[in-house]
Amino acid sequence: MTNTTLSTCSVIKIEGGKPLKGKVRISGSKNSVLPLLFSTLLTSDTCLIEDSPDLLDVKNTVDLLEFLGAKVQKSGKALKVFPRDVHSFQTPIETVRKMRASVLSMGPLLARFQRAVVGLPGGCSIGKRPIDQHLKFFSKAGAKVEIKEGYIFLEVPYKKPVDFSFDIITVTGTENAMLYLSSVKGKSVLRNIALEPEVMDLARALRKMGVKISLKGRVMEIEGKEDLSGFVHKVIPDRIEAGTFMVATVVTGGEVIIENVRLDHMEAVVAKIREVGGQVENLGNGRVVVSRNLKDLKPSYVETAEYPGFPTDMQAQFGVMLCIAKGRSEIYERIFENRFQHFFELKKMGAKVEINGRRVSIEGVDRLKGAKVNSTDLRASASLVIAGLIAEGTTIVKDVHHLDRGYERLEEKLKKLGASVERLRLSGYEI
Ligand code: EPU
Repeated sequence: MTNTTLSTCSVIKIEGGKPLKGKVRISGSKNSVLPLLFSTLLTSDTCLIEDSPDLLDVKNTVDLLEFLGAKVQKSGKALKVFPRDVHSFQTPIETVRKMRASVLSMGPLLARFQRAVVGLPGGCSIGKRPIDQHLKFFSKAGAKVEIKEGYIFLEVPYKKPVDFSFDIITVTGTENAMLYLSSVKGKSVLRNIALEPEVMDLARALRKMGVKISLKGRVMEIEGKEDLSGFVHKVIPDRIEAGTFMVATVVTGGEVIIENVRLDHMEAVVAKIREVGGQVENLGNGRVVVSRNLKDLKPSYVETAEYPGFPTDMQAQFGVMLCIAKGRSEIYERIFENRFQHFFELKKMGAKVEINGRRVSIEGVDRLKGAKVNSTDLRASASLVIAGLIAEGTTIVKDVHHLDRGYERLEEKLKKLGASVERLRLSGYEI
């Protein structure tokens, strides 16, 4: 090898074959806490966010709020935000590159300063991910929108209510519009909105700030005001983390009590888990017990969709389960055009899959074999860890920094459930 500089990176090493057993608590939702953190820019009052997960994306958002002039105190799982001294309306491109969700700064910064300058996000490993709907909304709301030198420049001379219909359903697009309109006096209407539980959680926090929000199907009415108050808000449990543990339990043939679960946010996922042979029993008080009903898991057809459909964020993890089901399954990924990267890695582990555009067909195999695999994005990483749990021998999942963006200490939680999982820092020569 000619390279003289040794690069180091984290990998997760898994010895497969141990059924998960015990109890695990689900953390607060990543995709809920991020818009909640951005909503603090709408007020000068203190905001308290409870049950915030300890994640890289949360840290990056806190860094951004501090860069803009807010103070943030962390105490256990609570984040106290003091946004009184926010003075900047510019989100650097580096921050947006680290975390696409920083586009959520557009709405609140425009609301607060009537100006915002935000780095333009590029595509990412799961697709092109344009933000045309966000920008179309801001234009309709009366903002001048200009893109130059990698930045989006927004300026609104005066704030007025708007009636806007999204051409496609977008989660952060809906949230950006809600955040902006929360500061606009008069009644605005948003049509064809996303109904994800995280969007509804944001609506609950905005109501606490004094915004009037009502909902009929996919139509939301918002009546904002200038002086919004602070809030105390507990983040909803992460439905994707809960689904990930459910799948991991079923594929390993274990039995796990999962705490802090909102089953009402997970109907499509739980129905599919039951269909393929998993058992999910509600114990009440946010607790469920998950196990496997059938020796041979059944194949299935899964189509991802906007909430309340089957979430794209569970597609990769569920795909692993179908790789060991008896028979032929198919997944149709309707939300993102390039979210099958994990299947190329699963092939290295012996999975029989055929990828055709947005569809993948899977012929179940008896078992997967350990291999060295690469993570390409957050949910792909989780799926490869799950695959490692059931594979024969050793699996090394590389580039696990993706996991840290959205799972709170996944390997520690799995270890407590009896899995043989460890994180290693390896040098470039060893990987
Ligand atoms: N889209 C457009 N134009 C837009 C906005 C979206 O064409 O202006 C397209 C996207 O390219 C995609 C589809 O619409 O094909 C849906 O994208 P959406 O805007 O809903 O996604 P997002 O808001 O960028 C959030 C989550 C994602 C999750 C998706 C879909 C956050 C911070 N992120 O992204 O979470 O996959 O909704 O549910 O809430 C993850 O947690 O791993 C993750 C990627």
